Amino acid sequence: GNSRARSTRLMANGSDTPFGNGLSDLTDLGGEWKANATLVTMIRKDILRFLDAERDVSIIKSSFKPGDTIRYVLDRRRTFNVSHTLHSLLPEVSPLKNKMFKTCAVVGNSGILLKSGCGKEINNHDFVIRCNLAPLNDFADDVGLRSDFTTMNPSVIQRVYKSLRDETEQENFILRLQQLNNSVLWIPAFMVKGSERHVEIVNELILKHKLKVRMAYPSLRFIHAVRRYWLANKINIKRPTTGLLMYTMATRFCDEIYLYGFWPFPKDANGNPVKYHYYDTLKYRYFSSAGPHRMPLEFNTLKRLHNKGALKLTTSKCT
Ligand code: CTP
Repeated sequence: GNSRARSTRLMANGSDTPFGNGLSDLTDLGGEWKANATLVTMIRKDILRFLDAERDVSIIKSSFKPGDTIRYVLDRRRTFNVSHTLHSLLPEVSPLKNKMFKTCAVVGNSGILLKSGCGKEINNHDFVIRCNLAPLNDFADDVGLRSDFTTMNPSVIQRVYKSLRDETEQENFILRLQQLNNSVLWIPAFMVKGSERHVEIVNELILKHKLKVRMAYPSLRFIHAVRRYWLANKINIKRPTTGLLMYTMATRFCDEIYLYGFWPFPKDANGNPVKYHYYDTLKYRYFSSAGPHRMPLEFNTLKRLHNKGALKLTTSKCT
């Protein structure tokens, strides 16, 4: 409605838009990077018209009662009911209420992180966001250990933890949750039918083992709001990736945003192979045209924001 029209006008001004015009070379990140505080403020305000990240980062206890019916965000014909377990672990207030940070890291999961030595630098940020419960222990030199906010797609339970069927998988999962050390676990849980049962198992484990984890689930409008912001700026994204969701959210709380592990390409700038994930053997092609994401388009957008000083992408070694 109104906000879209305004944002489109903003874009029509041409040179003062954060996104520039046309596509630029994907791999060259240019020379010296300098933060642009004015642009950061402008983007924060622009995003606020679509997404109130402080509120929408999570539903809270008072939003629902046990037994309430929720419509799936991406499948509006189907519904599920809020369980007692789910409800009991909802936060009382937004986990990001009144938070502001000078510097934040958003850590993606690209193999570009391997041998980067970026762990120390990542640990030194005031707030560290990680994606999909990626393993840290064996990679601490390159990815760091600090975590303040960790996302987890429900599919991770199936893909990585074999639906938590046997004891070993449960133990590994519990160990990983213990590593969160009372930080936030953010699960985009109400997207499509089927995921709620994974979420239920997770919540039951947390209660049973008294794990110190602060649960959060994006509001039902979160994903749509993020998508609308990028669409209003002519970035035609079907389904924003977790990484882009996290950058968009972070603009609300972080004065400087540093991105690591964003590199959705099978080769680095020198032509050397890059793993899709730093920690497993998933293939890049697995996600290319068939998947819902448009990571290269997202990357190109982030790169333009990098060149304008709105964020800093690190795609090489940290020194
Ligand atoms: N990423 C990237 N390049 C890669 C792998 C990941 O830029 N080679 C970024 C993406 O923004 C992605 C984020 O890092 O969302 C986290 O990676 P991953 O856990 O692999 O996300 P996916 O499960 O692939 O995608 P999503 O959770 O967004 O559905």
